[in-house]
Amino acid sequence: NKHNNVSLCRFLEGNKLVKTMIKDVSKYAGEEVTIGGWLANKRSSGKIAFLQLRDGSGFIQGVVVKEDVGEEVFAKAKGLTQESSLYVIGTVQKDERSPFGYELVVKDLEVIQESKDYPITPKAHGTEFLMDNRHLWLRSKRQHAVMQIRNEIIRATYEFFNENGFSKVDPPILTGSAPEGTSELFATKYFDEDAYLSQSGQLYMEAAAMALGKVFSFGPTFRAEKSKTRRHLIEFWMIEPEMAFYDFEDNLEVQEQYVSHIVQSVLKNCTLQLNTLGRDVSKLENIKAPFPRITYDDAIKFLHEKGFDDIQWGDDFGAPHETAIAESYDKPVFITHYPTGIKPFYMQPDPNRSDVVLCADLIAPEGYGEIIGGSQRIHDYDFLKQRIEEHQLDLDAYKWYLELRQYGSVPHSGFGLGLERTVAWISGVEHVRETIPFPRLLNRLYP
Ligand code: 4AD
Repeated sequence: NKHNNVSLCRFLEGNKLVKTMIKDVSKYAGEEVTIGGWLANKRSSGKIAFLQLRDGSGFIQGVVVKEDVGEEVFAKAKGLTQESSLYVIGTVQKDERSPFGYELVVKDLEVIQESKDYPITPKAHGTEFLMDNRHLWLRSKRQHAVMQIRNEIIRATYEFFNENGFSKVDPPILTGSAPEGTSELFATKYFDEDAYLSQSGQLYMEAAAMALGKVFSFGPTFRAEKSKTRRHLIEFWMIEPEMAFYDFEDNLEVQEQYVSHIVQSVLKNCTLQLNTLGRDVSKLENIKAPFPRITYDDAIKFLHEKGFDDIQWGDDFGAPHETAIAESYDKPVFITHYPTGIKPFYMQPDPNRSDVVLCADLIAPEGYGEIIGGSQRIHDYDFLKQRIEEHQLDLDAYKWYLELRQYGSVPHSGFGLGLERTVAWISGVEHVRETIPFPRLLNRLYP
């Protein structure tokens, strides 16, 4: 009976029991350790078997030499099937050739559960098949690397904002109003009322900034966008900082420092993962503040010079436009001062020119598109009320938001960074579907 722990105890009895994780094996060079893991892949001959083992923390090669382990253990190793779970006992040995620097010279092993006919074989599979098997695909070396880079970006995000005096505040996910317009909202019932899934926590973060000064949120965001591109998810995660007494310029500085911090953290702490993904790290090394800036006006001129005659002043940029602009820089670039007419009601117009607003989008290099949208917010009560009316929004729904401008209003700014697009860019992964554990896409709600 493989379900009970008895067989495990008997197996481990008499062996020196140093339980470790693969990422920590370097601490045990020359020593005998036990690892619980899965068989990712295997090669074997009549005399030697090479086991690609994984345990969630990393991958390591286990070497099983028939002459050393004897017939019985060698037969167990040779019979291992892909994704069977097992305990392995072996000695950690330095090995320059392995990407990890170490391998495990196996002494004994015990299968916990034998996996039969694992659907994702080492051969190439189509994307739809892999997406149908996302619950298993996550185990692959590539997906593991992307998820670890995602985790490092999240870690570095908390580090950056905590070190810079921000408090984390969690805005609601069920909301009664719609900051970015109603067309892309998921509606649901809230008992007898209508409610919407959050498409941005910004308005709540503005309230929080008036209470706590500098705040950031990190949460799920829902957009019923009928876009099927490599940059669009229906459910994605957004980091939204908001700062009282910060103007447009201050806002850009926070953004370039934050983005530099996450890129440099990934470079420092995810060398193995970037290597697994074949990422050209020379494209990341120079990502350090300050970032270049171009106004919307100049971007339009630039695009006309490049022969894009499909775009006029007042139009929003599409992916090809963003890519063309980004190609002129080796760092992310801010496009600033967009026309007032194509941006949301809450953005502060430029005091010298009311036809543009104090906003910026940050465009990642290498065609990854917009990763941040941000702006200085209108803080004058009468003007904000006028803008809400001009946009034909329900004044009652924005009563509380307007009140922020009645009780000690101050200039303030903030932005939203899309986590998955940022992971895609830093990892060098083509499509955002690989940057979130279980992507919700236009035609996919499973698994
Ligand atoms: O530019 P957006 O719509 O900005 C806001 O929602 C502001 N209220 C944020 C703020 O100022 N607090 O979205 C911000 C970022 C985009 O730059 C992009 O990275 C990401 O969110 N994003 C998406 N990511 C994946 N799939 C989608 N459908 C996305 N839509 C936006």
